[in-house]
Amino acid sequence: MQLTVEEQEMLDGKYGKGTQIAMKIQVALGEVFDAPKMVPVSRTHVALSNQEADLWFVEKLVNAGAKCRVSPTVNPGFNLEYFQCITTISKEDEQTIRRTRQAYKDIGATLTFDCTPYLEKNVPRFGEITAFSESSATPFINSVYGARTNRESAQSALCAAITGRTPLYGFLLDENRKGQVLVDVQADVKNDFDYQLLGYAVPKKLQFKTPVFVNLPTTPSPAALMNLGAQLNTAGNVPMYHIVGVTPEARTIEDAFQGDEPERIITITQEDLDQVHAEITDPVGKIDFALFGCPHFNLNQVAQVAELVKGKKLEVKLWIMTSSLTKELATRMGYLETLQAAGGDIVDDTCMDQPCWEFLYGKKGVTDSPKCAYYTKRRNMQFVIRKVEDCIEAAMRGEVS
Ligand code: F3S
Repeated sequence: MQLTVEEQEMLDGKYGKGTQIAMKIQVALGEVFDAPKMVPVSRTHVALSNQEADLWFVEKLVNAGAKCRVSPTVNPGFNLEYFQCITTISKEDEQTIRRTRQAYKDIGATLTFDCTPYLEKNVPRFGEITAFSESSATPFINSVYGARTNRESAQSALCAAITGRTPLYGFLLDENRKGQVLVDVQADVKNDFDYQLLGYAVPKKLQFKTPVFVNLPTTPSPAALMNLGAQLNTAGNVPMYHIVGVTPEARTIEDAFQGDEPERIITITQEDLDQVHAEITDPVGKIDFALFGCPHFNLNQVAQVAELVKGKKLEVKLWIMTSSLTKELATRMGYLETLQAAGGDIVDDTCMDQPCWEFLYGKKGVTDSPKCAYYTKRRNMQFVIRKVEDCIEAAMRGEVS
């Protein structure tokens, strides 16, 4: 790779051991992907996981003196103070989250603890070169804003934050952003939940390809686009999609394919969506809780749930996970009060794939998120997956039919 004088100095250790480690990793990545050079990044997001390996890596860099040049927003771990009030957190888990918070603070991250930073804190403009990890984030950056990012790992995104550079390859290059497969949507995709199913159904027919959707509405909500990207990337490693008429680089089908023909055409029918729904959901029956916010709910989604439970009583506990900013706005708007009066709550800074939910292991819940159900399998949590309105109805009855 051709490095600038400054990049070579980073690699040689002039800027300290921490920056040197980060640059070494990036040069190795660049060589693997045949990148000719590095390019500057203007934004970064690190999908911290608050797990052993993640902590080992960030602490190693902190101890080597690394500091971020481009402060990254970061994913949620869990809200220790909240969960200490409602359950028991082991000493070990408490220590891990405290160390995670400290390490990311020391390295110069922006402590958003949110998995949808592209909606409220880390919003790029068209064409910007960025380094985002997190499954719902990379497709949103590429497909909704027309900014550019590869499907970074938490570690490669952190290295980019430290050096302010990323190797030039993959989705940063025009030619790799073109659509590959035309996806003709014949299913009735009418609400945010249908985009979850669509995102899960498409990778059944294609993986590692960039889909171009036609026959979808051209005014999807931000939540719909977030859901589509989260599920496509979780189920099929798809960090970029085009929706003709929505994606900035896909004003027309010809734009999306950059004048080429699609490699294949696939059709998604209502039967495909129904089939995937039946496959990913656990059996109906009594439920113990309801959980939303994987990815983190935005304010409109919180408002929707608050409206649905207004003046009613929930039979089971309900939580919405969101960012601290959205929680603050929900408090100001009275949504939190409405939710709490019904028996629900909002928890910020928290991911569902964290040990703070141990008190729900072995229990069954209801959620609108296939990603939530997928990740919690290893934690022995069961989920019936339904659209939000049906989840609320179930939470009021304590049962899904
Ligand atoms: Fe966010 Fe955790 Fe789900 S980071 S998308 S709540 S797996």
